[in-house]
Amino acid sequence: MSKVIIIDYGSQVTQLIARRVREAGVYSEIHPCQVGIDKIRELAPDAIILSGGPASVGEEDAPTLEMGLLELNVPVLGICYGMQLLAKNLGGELSQSETREYGPAELEFASDCPLWKGLSKKSRVWMSHGDKVSKVPQGFQITAKTPTLAIAAMCDTERKIYALQFHPEVHHSEDGEAMIRNFLFEVANLTADWNMQNFAERVIEECREKVGDGHVICALSGGVDSAVVAVLLNKAIGHRLHCIFVNNGVLRQNEGEEVVGFLREHFDLNLKYIDASKLFLDKFVGVEDPEEKRKIIGHTFIDVFEKEANELKATGVSVKFLAQGTLYPDVIESVSHKGPSAVIKSHHNVGGLPEKMDMDLIEPLRELFKDEVRAVGAELGMPHSVLWRHPFPGPGLAIRIIGEITEERLEIVRKADVIVQEELRSSGWYEKVWQGFAVLLPLKTVGVMGDGRTYESVIALRIVDSVDAMTADWSRVPEDVLAKMSTRIINEVHGVNRVVLDISPKPPSTIEWE
Ligand code: XMP
Repeated sequence: MSKVIIIDYGSQVTQLIARRVREAGVYSEIHPCQVGIDKIRELAPDAIILSGGPASVGEEDAPTLEMGLLELNVPVLGICYGMQLLAKNLGGELSQSETREYGPAELEFASDCPLWKGLSKKSRVWMSHGDKVSKVPQGFQITAKTPTLAIAAMCDTERKIYALQFHPEVHHSEDGEAMIRNFLFEVANLTADWNMQNFAERVIEECREKVGDGHVICALSGGVDSAVVAVLLNKAIGHRLHCIFVNNGVLRQNEGEEVVGFLREHFDLNLKYIDASKLFLDKFVGVEDPEEKRKIIGHTFIDVFEKEANELKATGVSVKFLAQGTLYPDVIESVSHKGPSAVIKSHHNVGGLPEKMDMDLIEPLRELFKDEVRAVGAELGMPHSVLWRHPFPGPGLAIRIIGEITEERLEIVRKADVIVQEELRSSGWYEKVWQGFAVLLPLKTVGVMGDGRTYESVIALRIVDSVDAMTADWSRVPEDVLAKMSTRIINEVHGVNRVVLDISPKPPSTIEWE
């Protein structure tokens, strides 16, 4: 099987490179930039891609290029920081751009290059850099420029080293996908021999090997991710998988009952429902800070699981592993496990974990994006209704109640959420958008109902389009659907007299408000 290794220098979009490679049907793995050359040699890649990164090549402590990589005699593609590393280490020159360049740029091809095969002379690409290459190393030629950048791409066809200053992996680079495919198939001559079925088979085999004859606890949230993990593990180890659904007190209306019901109905799972709502809610008293809420959820979850594992152990069952439906966006935004990226939020199933845990983690989906998880689920024969539920965050409604979490405020956000879901479904918009929900704001405003003055809470509607949750835009849901949501929320949810619409994209905002 063809294999591409991606060396991660900390870009927020490194996984998108892996994703584009996988979409082209080629297996890829990401490794941190600290990975040694021995390990890379052992992995025997057919091609290497160097990612972008937040550092500046000249800075002290900036990640460096493992020169041994270039002696492996396999094609190399450097992207952004990766290009600058190649330039600096092979004898070229770098300089700081007069202005940092972010956003779209018009790329013009300056000379023939296999990466441009099948493309017209110009292409819109996405830039994000401060430094630039001012002189190419010996043996290289300039292959593209933009109106403000004389060296936007370069290559040494002899040594099969290619470099791009822009990001071909992001959606906004219109021919980026074609350029990556050209690198894989025109330059590196790889074979497209990877797909979701391979992925599922490989993961089932890996889980079987890792678990041996042990037992695994799986945290089911009711969302698609943990359900897919459970089905994968069920196939790998059968009833040695113990699924637990924890009611953490911040679930949506009827979610506990519905989720347990449909999981039992659709899958032959070993499943237990635990109502820990009081335990969680007691810990939220007086807590307003989003990170603190996330940590409380993460830690309390683990406490509940450990208690459950100990109870199972007491019956002679040895539980060594905890399985979670962590996805790639959760990983990259929590903490960089694979490279030097910045932390945005502690996702409960990653950053919130206590340092010491009595169980090892199994996270079979941590390299995937949501739509890839849905494709794996479909491959495993899971029903559409389960695979197409909107994502629901591990910390639940706790991060949709801005400020303190009280029973009264939970009730408000729950009722508003039901209305948002119902109206999205009845208008046919539920599956057109990535996610839609209600957020309760920590402020009251004046209204008039009947002939009287009201002074009540505000609900914000957050409805977004996205393909991978890394970037998102607010959904252009028709006005009449929004109007109906607003009218129903104000009329039916006691304590709300105003509804507003969130029209911010991600970035710079995030999808959830906390
Ligand atoms: P943000 O708010 O980071 O959300 O733009 C991106 C996607 O991830 C979901 N989300 C979470 N999922 N644990 C999860 O399992 C979490 O802690 C968490 N926080 C956010 C969010 O709903 C969106 O789909």
